[in-house]
Amino acid sequence: MKNALAWRYATQKYDPTKKISTEDMQEILEAINSAPTSYGLQPFRLIHVKSPELRQQLRAAAFDQSPVTDASDLIVFTVNRNMENRHLDTYMQRIVEVREVERERLNRFQENIVGVLSNLSSEELIAWNTKQAYIGLGFGLVMAATLGIDSTPMEGFQKEKYDEILGLTDDHAVLVLTFGYRSEEDHTQHHKKVRKTLDQLVTIK
Ligand SMILES: Cc1cc2nc3c(=O)[nH]c(=O)nc-3n(C[C@H](O)[C@H](O)[C@H](O)COP(=O)(O)O)c2cc1C
Repeated sequence: MKNALAWRYATQKYDPTKKISTEDMQEILEAINSAPTSYGLQPFRLIHVKSPELRQQLRAAAFDQSPVTDASDLIVFTVNRNMENRHLDTYMQRIVEVREVERERLNRFQENIVGVLSNLSSEELIAWNTKQAYIGLGFGLVMAATLGIDSTPMEGFQKEKYDEILGLTDDHAVLVLTFGYRSEEDHTQHHKKVRKTLDQLVTIK
């Protein structure tokens, strides 16, 4: 694991001829899906963009960053703009299915969540949902590295344009994550990793 984390880097240039297997991609998606979230709500969804035409448009709205078209796979994380009851109902229904509990037993839990989230403005809710999406991003990055797959997390794109291109109305694009295999010509793979020393990171009290 330690080696995998040292090996990964935010890949700048992919080899477009190398594709990820369906099994590996499945594992990465499962890892993102297994990330913890506040209340377990998972208030984000993933769009696995496979259309080359769409990817071309998305690249133009991402300052022409080549991973958007050249990586094997591209995922856009989207979050709910509003926490409507139907989202909570879907979640409660899923708990009923998986844990085989009675729906009524979850009413209190649902009311608690509504109590906290209904005070948030749409902007605040998007920010709260986006924090949850970042945890998924982290899990995806780590799983990819352990499988020997390269990745690039990206915030550098025009989010409203992404919504338009992907036809999103209730949802809002917040993050992009690409996966594939590095090009030999990507010089950034040879750059030394810059991180704080642990003394700079950790305070002991
Ligand atoms: C949330 C997030 C957004 C990022 N957005 C971009 C981006 O739009 N384009 C890019 O080339 N790198 C992007 N990066 C990569 C960072 O620049 C990179 O992770 C950081 O410099 C550390 O380098 P390393 O990941 O190669 O170790 C992003 C990273 C994160 C975590």
